[in-house]
Amino acid sequence: MLDTLPPVTFDAALGLAILRTPHTRYVVRIGSDGSPRHLYWGRPLDDAVLARLPEPASPAASSFEADAAADELAPQSGARFGPAGLQVRFGDGTRGVQWRFAGATVDGGELRLRLDDRRRPLRAELCYRVRPDSDVVERWTELTHTAPEAATDSEPGSEPGSASVSVSGSVSGSGSGSGRDTGPALPVTVERLDSASWTAPALADYRLSHLVGGWNSEFQLRGDRLPVAETVLTSRRGLTGHHANPWLALDDGTATEERGEVWSTALAWSGSWRVTVHRDPVGRTTWTGGFGHEGLGWTLRPGETLRTPVYAGLYTPDGFGAASRGWHAYVRRHVLPEPGRDRPVLYNSWEATGFDVDQDGQMRLARLAAGLGAELFVLDDGWFGARRDDGAGLGDWTPRPEAFPGGLGPLADEVHRLGMDFGLWVEPEMVNRDSELYRAHPDWVLHSPELDATELRNQLVLNFARPEVADWAWRTLDGLVRENRVDWLKWDANRAFTEAGWAGHPDPDRLWIDHTRAVYRIMDRLRAAHPGLRIEACAGGGGRADLGILARTDQVWVSDNTDPVDRIGIQDGFSRLYPAQAMASWVTDSPNTTTGRRTPLRFRFHVAMAGALGIGGNLTEWTEEELAEAARFVAQYKSVRPLVQHGIQHRLGPAGPVGAAIAASAVTAVHYAAPDGGDHVVLAWRPTTRYGHAAAPVRLPALDPAAHYLDPDLDEVHSGAVLVHRGLDLRLPAGDHASRLIRLRRVTPS
Ligand code: GLA
Repeated sequence: MLDTLPPVTFDAALGLAILRTPHTRYVVRIGSDGSPRHLYWGRPLDDAVLARLPEPASPAASSFEADAAADELAPQSGARFGPAGLQVRFGDGTRGVQWRFAGATVDGGELRLRLDDRRRPLRAELCYRVRPDSDVVERWTELTHTAPEAATDSEPGSEPGSASVSVSGSVSGSGSGSGRDTGPALPVTVERLDSASWTAPALADYRLSHLVGGWNSEFQLRGDRLPVAETVLTSRRGLTGHHANPWLALDDGTATEERGEVWSTALAWSGSWRVTVHRDPVGRTTWTGGFGHEGLGWTLRPGETLRTPVYAGLYTPDGFGAASRGWHAYVRRHVLPEPGRDRPVLYNSWEATGFDVDQDGQMRLARLAAGLGAELFVLDDGWFGARRDDGAGLGDWTPRPEAFPGGLGPLADEVHRLGMDFGLWVEPEMVNRDSELYRAHPDWVLHSPELDATELRNQLVLNFARPEVADWAWRTLDGLVRENRVDWLKWDANRAFTEAGWAGHPDPDRLWIDHTRAVYRIMDRLRAAHPGLRIEACAGGGGRADLGILARTDQVWVSDNTDPVDRIGIQDGFSRLYPAQAMASWVTDSPNTTTGRRTPLRFRFHVAMAGALGIGGNLTEWTEEELAEAARFVAQYKSVRPLVQHGIQHRLGPAGPVGAAIAASAVTAVHYAAPDGGDHVVLAWRPTTRYGHAAAPVRLPALDPAAHYLDPDLDEVHSGAVLVHRGLDLRLPAGDHASRLIRLRRVTPS
């Protein structure tokens, strides 16, 4: 169908916009009141059928309207009483806008619906983008104050040409809403500007799947029946957050891994965010989301445009597994900067040496890591300034002379000589009070003079919205990378924002957006200035994992909890949206430094091999046998790496309701298939077992029942039909912490 139909069409007579992805349709209709309203999102329907669907009733028409359709971005006017996607306050105190539809632009896969306020100089463009190789619909909003820019209004502290608020010359004067009745143009206060509002069709019931957690327990999947209420998922922390992730999925409560309709969305933003899901008493469910949390406001000045991050949505009729695979493919094709590059097997010294780093100790670890087959050596916290613990030094990014008398050069050279890349931990957005940087620039931190500043991990947050701070960070990082031949940065952020003021600035809440924009800009600039440089996103473990950060990093450190038993659930949650190649996973010591649990090396490796493998144990204490065993696992990982990092992922259990905690006695397995279906690897784990409860065979529904598959390690050939319908005998070893890696290759039976 797509061969003949363009990806986007707009029928001006009907006010009907149809977005076509390979397997879905997303349809919007402009209401007779000028507001774009949701019409359809699901399997393809004929254009003629879509054109005959009745115009959705306006929610603004009557306060007692029961079945009104949802706005694509509710503007807080008329009889709309649900969560608004756009909340503005004009200079005279008036709230809310009333739209006049000002036209649509279609450009390939991109659609823009232009909406002008009927009286005020305010324009919103609702933007949509679809691509030929994905069912994901990308949406964002651009809000422009269309009065001419005031020549004399310069804003102290604001950055010229900032990415978040740009002067737009192209819109003023077009459309009717340019300054009538307003007198001199006043700024508009934006209290909420969502990227998009989404609508699910009427279903018998609604289940909300989402990710919750905390430090050391990120990405815990929940599947909760959606109450008839407004449910808010949010971060007020200035970071994406450990406690929630801006992803959600809705289904009718019956979808499984392989079956059922699922509507899911993900916001590409790494600062504070909010998504409000509204199930109303007549059964309609909508959700609206974007950057910022409640209570923040941004001033939009004449001539300025505020552009939101992308909020992406995906419909799939084939269950949660297909939804995740759709997201993984999208992240690889359209989000990650270098999806085709193998993620290296890394060694990181944090759990081994903590803050107690020095050149000799790190070189010793580097030699041991190289002996295991590691391809990247990452020097973690403790190498700089007066850093001996977490009480001092953050902000002073020069090597600590007692630890690194010749700077980092000798270590970088040794790491390179050993054939590995050299990686460095940094936490550029943070500062200890006990640092040269803070002593020189106490005003650079987020603060309010009238409030005591909360210290978390003895640190404060630098205000990257200030141009001079962002510029300092860029120069510092650029110099570090250049001078020390750094191939990899682990970019950490170990605290949330508090008392986030900007003394003396007329529009201080702007920092909540501009800080994140500055982080993005610096990362982008570092990558551009240093081709080949890779960046790992980290925020006290997995506190900053989202589609926004993944657009400029290669992988995410998903949790400081490296216990493989806990990690199985964390990795399962992460896989809902993010692909395995973006999931950093380490093998560390036993007993585990966080949980104290003892697990065999084999189990630790098998769990970590499900993502981008790393090693983080104290290798100086590993026995010769352990080092040799580890080297064999690293070599085995490299042989299956193309499948894990570039293959197609299928979660194989455990069976049970979405969001139920994975029982310790359950077998969990993940299957990675080559895109051509030739090679496969299955990683299976069972943390514990009960006497007499042998693991049942695990079905591999993604295999071809007509084919045969060779297990080259056991030299056995399996019928595809048996593997699909009856299942693979995992032959897990007896006892706790059992695991296996099974390779399969499609063969022609002789
Ligand atoms: C955070 C990170 C860890 C480590 C420490 C260093 O907690 O998540 O991996 O880098 O900081 O202080």
